[in-house]
Amino acid sequence: MAKLPDHVGIDFGTHTVKAVELKNISTKPELANLGVQLTPKGVINSEERQDQKKLAEALKVLYANSKIKNVNVVMALPEFSVFTRFLEFPGVKVEELKKAVQYEAKQYIPIPLEQVQMSYIIIGFNQEKNAPRVLLVAAPRKTIEIYMNVANFANLDLIAIETESVAMGRAMFRSMGKKDCVMLDFGANSTDMSIMTNGALVFSQSIPIGSDALTQSIVNTFNFDYNRAEQFKRGYGLLPNVVEGKIYNALLPIIGSLMTEVRRGVEFYKNKTMSAAPVEYLLNGDGSLLPGLPEFVSKSLGVSAQIANPWLNISVDNKYKNILSKAGSSYSVAIGLALKDE
Ligand SMILES: Nc1ncnc2c1ncn2[C@@H]1O[C@H](COP(=O)(O)OP(=O)(O)OP(=O)(O)O)[C@@H](O)[C@H]1O
Ligand SMILES: [Mg+2]
Repeated sequence: MAKLPDHVGIDFGTHTVKAVELKNISTKPELANLGVQLTPKGVINSEERQDQKKLAEALKVLYANSKIKNVNVVMALPEFSVFTRFLEFPGVKVEELKKAVQYEAKQYIPIPLEQVQMSYIIIGFNQEKNAPRVLLVAAPRKTIEIYMNVANFANLDLIAIETESVAMGRAMFRSMGKKDCVMLDFGANSTDMSIMTNGALVFSQSIPIGSDALTQSIVNTFNFDYNRAEQFKRGYGLLPNVVEGKIYNALLPIIGSLMTEVRRGVEFYKNKTMSAAPVEYLLNGDGSLLPGLPEFVSKSLGVSAQIANPWLNISVDNKYKNILSKAGSSYSVAIGLALKDE
């Protein structure tokens, strides 16, 4: 595969757009620039050109504010818009895989195959079953077109596109040296979950419960206005012993449902692969800043959870240290995209 030049990784979320520009990506990565911009409402994944233009405008503002000049960009498709599936093919030879994957894909992808761009990665071999193991990734062509349009409207050169979970896996591997872990990305509207084993991504799913639902639960319980509820969420989160545990109790049903979904994901993975799941959990995204979250996840799932630090092994100028000490884990996807070197 061709080597990619140094570029900007852009992570589109429903709440924020984040950009990370790195230098020397193949040798000694160094942060060149960093930017965040609020996402205009309702534009993510919209097929309307007007919405795509709005998103491009937000990108232009982000570029101007953070003084980024590099027009080469790599973007991530939101996890909820892609299909990924772990598959095994007993008795199938590597040269026959392409056909076999195509055939199997029909069963798993809920839209006609002509409408998706599909790729697969061979991620290992099951000796017992004599079966190559494959991760199938498919994205609707329409969704890919959306991001190509956004790049065009913003006068940027889209040099590659991938999924959020693949980017995050790269960030965790390159920065933290993690090869076996469960990654959780706490966003505004959804929480993405992915599993990496032996340095390869083997499972991913988007769970439609995000951190905004936690704020909403505080609104509903205490009749607070939204901003006040947001402050309480960020201030007290899941700390059980503050304000008589009232915020904790208000968040419990939502975060509890989320943990149930994560557990289901792990069970699915275990049944599919007949192997144990990693017990190390890395928490990412702005929603991971919720006070008490690592302790809660650890206890609730019986695992070892910590906030990820995607900045390890990247040289960072002192002027950024303050931002990163508060919200380092927000940038994992953007960093992973920026680190893509081929
Ligand atoms: N300090 C904090 N403590 C707790 N939650 C926070 C904090 N800062 C931001 N959040 C929450 O994080 C969420 C936004 O996270 P992020 O910017 O990663 O989302 P996104 O990637 O844009 O969204 P999505 O992945 O759902 O499309 C919001 O719900 C916000 O309330
Ligand atoms: Mg996100």
